[in-house]
Amino acid sequence: MPRPKKKEEAEVEVVETPDQAAGKGDLDVEELEGIGKVTGQKLKERGYYTVRDLAFASAKEIADIIGSEERAEQIIEAARSMLGLSNFITALEVYKKRVNIKRISTGVRSLDELLNGGVETGAVTEVAGEFGAGKTQFCHQLAVMVQLPEDKGGLSAKAIYIDTENTFRPERITQMARARGLDPDQALKNIYYARAYSSDHQMILAEQARQIIKQDNIKLLVVDSIVAHFRAEFPGRENLAERQQKLNKHIADLLKIADAYDVAVVVTNQVMAQPDVFFGNPLKPAGGNVLAHGATYRIWLRKSKENIRIAKIFDSPYHPEREATFKITEEGLTD
Ligand code: GTP
Ligand code: MG
Repeated sequence: MPRPKKKEEAEVEVVETPDQAAGKGDLDVEELEGIGKVTGQKLKERGYYTVRDLAFASAKEIADIIGSEERAEQIIEAARSMLGLSNFITALEVYKKRVNIKRISTGVRSLDELLNGGVETGAVTEVAGEFGAGKTQFCHQLAVMVQLPEDKGGLSAKAIYIDTENTFRPERITQMARARGLDPDQALKNIYYARAYSSDHQMILAEQARQIIKQDNIKLLVVDSIVAHFRAEFPGRENLAERQQKLNKHIADLLKIADAYDVAVVVTNQVMAQPDVFFGNPLKPAGGNVLAHGATYRIWLRKSKENIRIAKIFDSPYHPEREATFKITEEGLTD
């Protein structure tokens, strides 16, 4: 037991900042007490390399690897306590964490205002909308914006782009990069791209993205679209439970990546018509409640006249339901 602290002492002691904890998070899993070479090897084979990976893992995942749920829980608890992550934290720590959050400007003033400055790191942002609403354009633009220096709205960082619908266009990136004063070739080099061919492949890519994030300065992870493969592979009501279970796992993985590595995760989602709605909006994002609860922020895009688009935040804990208007032009998304 540590000796009781005097009041002033307790106040300065506070707990490590996320940065200090992040340092320990990079330690090899074998640095944890109770993990030997063999267990360490098994964990690494399945993608758990560092103490941070274990701290954010679920007991079930680890139990599947090492064969004991009880031991899995002990390992995860040990990793969490090494990082100073117990289940309860003080409101001061929550506040510190939030102060630490960075934002990627969308490059559009009205959209940034809607988002209190841009897309947040450490969170999952869902962009929903009908066909042609501009979801993919929004993702392209962010992949460029994240590269800008902080005084221009970026984070001087790179992006990972998981493309499930084959709609990523490098030419579009070069146009947007030029418009922002970036070297187009360099802008392309700063985006890691992968095409996902199935929902399983998409989930594996998310795991591989985690490895890249550890080694490189990534602050944006895009999944465009998050639900398309899941909807295609698990059609109809009879497959709904299985689909939602898998999707749930995928979103949980993405949330963990956002949280553990302070990355902005942006996912797109299609909207579906609900034939049974007579009042209000008959369109509804696909993915059901799994996405509704998984995404921290949800942006709804819709088409207006010609190249005009309207964005709205929905389901947000602290954004009022405002709207913002923007355009899609040669240069990308603009005011
Ligand atoms: P789905 O993926 O089909 O659901 O749609 P989405 O929401 O991803 O739409 P997307 O972002 O692909 O937006 C497509 C729209 O962007 C097009 O209808 C065009 O209006 C606009 N757009 C795309 N590329 C360009 C471009 O190079 N120049 C201009 N001016 N507009 C573009
Ligand atoms: Mg699209």
